[in-house]
Amino acid sequence: MAESLRGRHFVSIHDYSSEEIQLIFDLMRTLKAEERIGIRKPILKDKNLAMIFQKSSTRTRVSFEIGMNQMGGKALFLSNNDIQLNRGETIADTARVLSRYVDGIMARVFDHQDILDLAEHSTVPVINGLSDFLHPCQAVADFYTMLEKRDQLKGLHLVYIGDSNNVSNSLMMAAAKTGVHITICSPGGHQPCEKIMKWFEDDSRSTGSTFYITSDPTEAVKRADFIYTDVWASMGQEKEAEERKNLFAPYQLNKDLMSKAPPHALVLHCLPAHRGEEITDEVIDSHQSIVFDEAENRLHVQKAIMALLMS
Ligand code: CP
Ligand code: NVA
Repeated sequence: MAESLRGRHFVSIHDYSSEEIQLIFDLMRTLKAEERIGIRKPILKDKNLAMIFQKSSTRTRVSFEIGMNQMGGKALFLSNNDIQLNRGETIADTARVLSRYVDGIMARVFDHQDILDLAEHSTVPVINGLSDFLHPCQAVADFYTMLEKRDQLKGLHLVYIGDSNNVSNSLMMAAAKTGVHITICSPGGHQPCEKIMKWFEDDSRSTGSTFYITSDPTEAVKRADFIYTDVWASMGQEKEAEERKNLFAPYQLNKDLMSKAPPHALVLHCLPAHRGEEITDEVIDSHQSIVFDEAENRLHVQKAIMALLMS
């Protein structure tokens, strides 16, 4: 395993170099190919992963747990309702205590600061399983899925349509690290924040990725190799959901919008999808949709990340 990654946290793609992202892709490719032919190596034999969930999850929970099992380790599901975090124990103390028991901590949190605090006070690797700001495991899986479909990432054009959120922020980071050009198409007031744009600027200098913002979906999809969308109201924004439905309605990924994109364009969505809102059935179920390949790749990418950090 690559020494450079052992013991590191995986909080943001911004913290990783392009070469380190490539290392994750390389190991992921091997692990996925081995799994396909029934080879499972006990890379994390007897290692334990604590999984803190402040929010719901299907893919993240199951893929991390199965990933640990496949590599010979175990994962513990710690719902926010069941652990003392819910009764006021601090994130810092939780990190210190869990570090005495387990070999890694994966956490899904509301406030991104909670992930930063966990990482600061943990002596074992902390993996970001989604915060309100970032979803890095998702973006690495997405970019690997794009790579599988097109052989090379550099120079491809990814178009994200909808709310600028944790997923689009991490897609921007992954684009900057891999030489992918990215367009974010969102209504005014829902565009990427300054910090993400600054990170993109820093990280794209060596890869040549470019970044374009528009609020016109038709214009955005014209040169897309991949079109990505996500829910209009993320977890924690439920109260705004109705209001957002009106605002984002022109950003729906439907057959009409797909007809404006090149015919080779493929469709991504991190899932869960709100069918009939940000994406229609006919698009998500079409031959251009690769959303279930993406979901599968969450498993392989997280196995690679855990193996590199925790072995
Ligand atoms: N894409 C994703 O993270 O899905 P879950 O919320 O089901 O984990
Ligand atoms: N943006 C979504 C992603 C879910 C995987 C959310 O945070 O709810």
